Amino acid sequence: MKIAIINGPNLNLLGKRETDVYGSRSFDVFFGELQARHPDVTLHYFQSNIEGELVSELQRVGFDHDGIILNPAAYTHTSVAIGDAVAAITAPVVEVHISNVHAREDFRKFSHVSAKAAGSIFGLGLEGYALALQWLKGRSA
Ligand code: DQA
Repeated sequence: MKIAIINGPNLNLLGKRETDVYGSRSFDVFFGELQARHPDVTLHYFQSNIEGELVSELQRVGFDHDGIILNPAAYTHTSVAIGDAVAAITAPVVEVHISNVHAREDFRKFSHVSAKAAGSIFGLGLEGYALALQWLKGRSA
Protein backbone atom coordinates (compact mmCIF):
# COMPACT_ATOMS: atom_id res chain seq x y z
CA MET A 1 0.00 0.00 0.00
CA LYS A 2 1.04 3.58 -0.64
CA ILE A 3 0.75 6.32 1.97
CA ALA A 4 1.87 9.92 1.54
CA ILE A 5 2.94 12.20 4.37
CA ILE A 6 2.65 15.88 3.51
CA ASN A 7 4.04 18.56 5.81
CA GLY A 8 3.52 22.28 5.46
CA PRO A 9 5.61 25.36 6.21
CA ASN A 10 8.39 25.42 8.80
CA LEU A 11 8.08 21.69 9.47
CA ASN A 12 11.42 21.28 7.69
CA LEU A 13 12.82 22.88 10.86
CA LEU A 14 11.55 20.19 13.23
CA GLY A 15 14.20 19.43 15.82
CA LYS A 16 15.50 23.01 15.69
CA ARG A 17 12.26 24.97 15.78
CA GLU A 18 10.61 25.90 19.14
CA THR A 19 11.74 22.59 20.63
CA ASP A 20 9.61 23.17 23.73
CA VAL A 21 6.51 23.00 21.49
CA TYR A 22 7.57 20.64 18.69
CA GLY A 23 10.27 18.47 20.28
CA SER A 24 13.90 17.90 19.37
CA ARG A 25 13.61 15.10 16.81
CA SER A 26 14.11 15.88 13.16
CA PHE A 27 11.38 14.67 10.84
CA ASP A 28 13.89 12.89 8.61
CA VAL A 29 15.07 10.70 11.50
CA PHE A 30 11.49 10.02 12.58
CA PHE A 31 10.48 9.22 8.99
CA GLY A 32 13.30 6.68 8.65
CA GLU A 33 12.20 4.96 11.86
CA LEU A 34 8.55 4.95 10.76
CA GLN A 35 9.43 3.40 7.41
CA ALA A 36 11.56 0.74 9.17
CA ARG A 37 8.62 -0.09 11.47
CA HIS A 38 6.32 -0.52 8.45
CA PRO A 39 8.27 -2.29 5.68
CA ASP A 40 4.98 -3.39 4.12
CA VAL A 41 4.01 0.22 3.36
CA THR A 42 5.52 2.44 0.68
CA LEU A 43 5.80 5.76 2.47
CA HIS A 44 6.26 8.90 0.46
CA TYR A 45 7.30 12.16 2.15
CA PHE A 46 6.78 15.69 0.84
CA GLN A 47 7.35 18.99 2.62
CA SER A 48 6.90 22.49 1.28
CA ASN A 49 6.80 26.00 2.62
CA ILE A 50 4.66 27.06 -0.36
CA GLU A 51 0.86 26.78 -0.29
CA GLY A 52 0.38 26.02 -4.00
CA GLU A 53 2.98 23.25 -3.90
CA LEU A 54 1.01 21.59 -1.11
CA VAL A 55 -2.18 21.83 -3.19
CA SER A 56 -0.38 20.33 -6.22
CA GLU A 57 1.02 17.48 -4.15
CA LEU A 58 -2.42 16.69 -2.69
CA GLN A 59 -3.79 16.56 -6.24
CA ARG A 60 -0.87 14.40 -7.41
CA VAL A 61 -1.16 11.71 -4.72
CA GLY A 62 -4.83 12.14 -3.89
CA PHE A 63 -6.34 9.77 -6.43
CA ASP A 64 -4.01 6.78 -6.31
CA HIS A 65 -2.63 6.56 -2.76
CA ASP A 66 -4.32 4.56 -0.01
CA GLY A 67 -4.13 7.44 2.39
CA ILE A 68 -2.58 10.79 3.16
CA ILE A 69 -1.25 12.06 6.48
CA LEU A 70 -1.38 15.83 6.28
CA ASN A 71 0.02 18.48 8.58
CA PRO A 72 -0.62 21.76 6.75
CA ALA A 73 1.03 23.65 9.66
CA ALA A 74 0.10 27.36 9.65
CA TYR A 75 -1.87 26.95 6.39
CA THR A 76 -4.33 24.82 8.39
CA HIS A 77 -5.76 28.00 9.79
CA THR A 78 -5.70 30.14 6.64
CA SER A 79 -5.87 28.08 3.45
CA VAL A 80 -9.21 27.66 1.70
CA ALA A 81 -7.22 26.15 -1.20
CA ILE A 82 -5.79 23.32 0.91
CA GLY A 83 -9.24 22.64 2.42
CA ASP A 84 -10.70 22.52 -1.10
CA ALA A 85 -7.93 20.15 -2.27
CA VAL A 86 -8.66 17.75 0.62
CA ALA A 87 -12.35 17.82 -0.34
CA ALA A 88 -11.53 17.23 -4.02
CA ILE A 89 -9.38 14.11 -3.72
CA THR A 90 -10.52 10.55 -3.08
CA ALA A 91 -7.77 9.25 -0.76
CA PRO A 92 -8.65 9.46 2.94
CA VAL A 93 -6.78 12.24 4.70
CA VAL A 94 -5.78 12.18 8.36
CA GLU A 95 -4.93 15.65 9.68
CA VAL A 96 -2.09 15.65 12.18
CA HIS A 97 -0.77 18.41 14.41
CA ILE A 98 2.22 17.83 16.63
CA SER A 99 1.14 20.34 19.25
CA ASN A 100 -2.24 20.63 20.92
CA VAL A 101 -3.63 23.41 18.75
CA HIS A 102 -6.63 23.79 21.08
CA ALA A 103 -4.39 24.68 24.01
CA ARG A 104 -2.64 27.49 22.12
CA GLU A 105 -3.63 30.82 20.54
CA ASP A 106 -7.26 31.15 19.43
CA PHE A 107 -6.30 31.46 15.75
CA ARG A 108 -4.96 27.89 15.86
CA LYS A 109 -8.34 26.47 16.92
CA PHE A 110 -9.87 26.76 13.46
CA SER A 111 -8.90 24.35 10.69
CA HIS A 112 -9.90 24.52 7.02
CA VAL A 113 -9.06 20.80 6.79
CA SER A 114 -10.80 19.14 9.76
CA ALA A 115 -14.30 19.06 8.29
CA LYS A 116 -13.01 17.38 5.13
CA ALA A 117 -10.54 14.97 6.75
CA ALA A 118 -11.39 11.43 7.83
CA GLY A 119 -10.16 12.44 11.26
CA SER A 120 -7.68 14.61 13.11
CA ILE A 121 -4.97 13.98 15.69
CA PHE A 122 -3.36 16.77 17.67
CA GLY A 123 -1.13 17.15 20.70
CA LEU A 124 0.53 13.74 20.62
CA GLY A 125 3.83 14.84 19.13
CA LEU A 126 5.34 12.95 16.21
CA GLU A 127 3.55 9.85 17.49
CA GLY A 128 0.43 11.35 15.88
CA TYR A 129 1.84 10.45 12.44
CA ALA A 130 2.45 6.86 13.58
CA LEU A 131 -1.12 6.60 14.90
CA ALA A 132 -2.49 8.01 11.66
CA LEU A 133 -0.51 5.44 9.68
CA GLN A 134 -1.79 2.64 11.91
CA TRP A 135 -5.38 3.75 11.30
CA LEU A 136 -4.91 4.02 7.52
CA LYS A 137 -3.37 0.53 7.42
CA GLY A 138 -6.25 -0.95 9.40
CA ARG A 139 -8.75 0.76 7.14
CA SER A 140 -7.25 -0.78 3.99
CA ALA A 141 -6.68 -4.26 5.48
C1 DQA B 1 1.22 22.70 13.75
C2 DQA B 1 0.33 23.70 14.50
C3 DQA B 1 0.16 24.98 13.68
O1 DQA B 1 -0.68 25.89 14.37
C4 DQA B 1 1.50 25.64 13.45
O2 DQA B 1 1.36 26.77 12.63
C5 DQA B 1 2.51 24.70 12.90
C6 DQA B 1 2.54 23.32 13.35
C7 DQA B 1 1.52 21.46 14.61
O3 DQA B 1 1.95 20.46 14.04
O4 DQA B 1 1.35 21.49 15.83
O5 DQA B 1 3.39 25.11 12.14
O6 DQA B 1 0.53 22.26 12.59
